[in-house]
Amino acid sequence: MKEIIFATKNKGKIKEIQAILGNDYTVKSIEEIGLNIDILEDGKTFEENAIKKATEIMKITNKTVLADDSGLQIDYLNGEPGVYSARYMGEDTPYEIKNAKILELLKDIEEEKRTARFVSVIALAIPNKEPITTIGTIEGIIGYEMKGENGFGYDPIFYIPYLEKTSAQLSLEEKNKISHRGKALEQMKKILKEMM
Ligand code: IMP
Repeated sequence: MKEIIFATKNKGKIKEIQAILGNDYTVKSIEEIGLNIDILEDGKTFEENAIKKATEIMKITNKTVLADDSGLQIDYLNGEPGVYSARYMGEDTPYEIKNAKILELLKDIEEEKRTARFVSVIALAIPNKEPITTIGTIEGIIGYEMKGENGFGYDPIFYIPYLEKTSAQLSLEEKNKISHRGKALEQMKKILKEMM
């Protein structure tokens, strides 16, 4: 079994990623390998942050490392929270509060102007090689209320019109098939097959 370190502390993400990469790989979080470091996500783009995270952990561990940077871009809010999605209104603020704030900011805004997308960039860092990135997106709209219990983060307010569901109403399998991270990881899976 090939071991890959995923540069995240988010257990929800590790679960999604292990499900997509399948049994050929064991995905371990940085905590599981006994590392306790926070990498400052100070890039202006998802790409910069993902490459920075993967490369820094690869240099410390000398192992193959994947990292992602992702977020929600809301067109009506000029692309916010974007790369600041995790830190929006403070990192420790519960998502019920963040989501309620966004619903309030978009109150009474008609559907056509509520367009949004999740974006995920995955970076692969292998010792002595140049980093490689893949990108995935999923288009949707900001709903009028929170719905669903699955997923995490902004899932309850991200409504996918063609499914008539929020991404928090999807099972993990359903979400992985269509999500930003799912799409970016499917591409990365092909690259991993060639590289590892
Ligand atoms: P990251 O961990 O720096 O990539 O921050 C990503 C942030 O974007 C998360 O903390 C969530 O706020 C948001 N986000 C990214 N992907 C998703 C998703 O699939 N569902 C809900 N929120 C997400």
